[in-house]
Amino acid sequence: MDNLTNKFIVIDGLDGSGKTTQIKLLSDYLEAHNIPYVALRDPGSTILGNSLRKLLLDNTEEEIDAHAEMLMFSAARRQLFARKIAPALQEGKTVICDRYIGSTLAYQSVNGSTEHSILSAYLNSVGERRPDHYIILRIPLATALNRIKQRGAQDRIERKGEPYLSRVLDKFENIGEHLDTFSMVDVEGKSEMDVHDNIISVLQGFVECWS
Ligand SMILES: Nc1ncnc2c1ncn2[C@@H]1O[C@H](COP(=O)(O)OP(=O)(O)O)[C@@H](O)[C@H]1O
Ligand SMILES: [Mg+2]
Repeated sequence: MDNLTNKFIVIDGLDGSGKTTQIKLLSDYLEAHNIPYVALRDPGSTILGNSLRKLLLDNTEEEIDAHAEMLMFSAARRQLFARKIAPALQEGKTVICDRYIGSTLAYQSVNGSTEHSILSAYLNSVGERRPDHYIILRIPLATALNRIKQRGAQDRIERKGEPYLSRVLDKFENIGEHLDTFSMVDVEGKSEMDVHDNIISVLQGFVECWS
């Protein structure tokens, strides 16, 4: 099955939902099927994006204004799109991305930005080429918190705590209305490989309408 060639796929979800794990398994899958790809993360994967990521996740010196925070995520995404995503797609590669607009919609709308302002920044910066498929890993909050705890150090956004993350989770539940083509993949009680198999079958389900 090589119809995953030249597609733009996002894996999103709460911290601890298994995004990094699944990006790795999907990378291995594409590798095994000789499909050229790049694996990226948002924010990050560019020099500007990594600097913004550091400011966003580590800063403790000054409270970041909600709208400034949203625009920083949007700027990092624009740089990622212009320097990495668009060129890779142009070269015929498949792009798999760890987080994207869904995370900004979920986290920053709870943090004080309106969905309207988030979507308008998105459409004005990277909206001309949207993901071909958007996967959201659905995890109960308690399971996610357990996994985050085991991981140790928390970043500035994780430290906002349980009530905040609970509202973020609700946002992820309803995010489909803003995404063109998306799937929720339940992860609770499933092994890493079970989740991977689900992701592959979800993507295979879309191959027909892509071709
Ligand atoms: N299906 C799974 N079952 C149990 N543990 C998992 C599963 N997927 C990932 N994990 C573990 O949960 C933690 C968080 O996974 P990770 O992939 O880093 O999530 P994220 O990138 O979404 O924060 C890691 O320790 C990982 O090994
Ligand atoms: Mg991760």
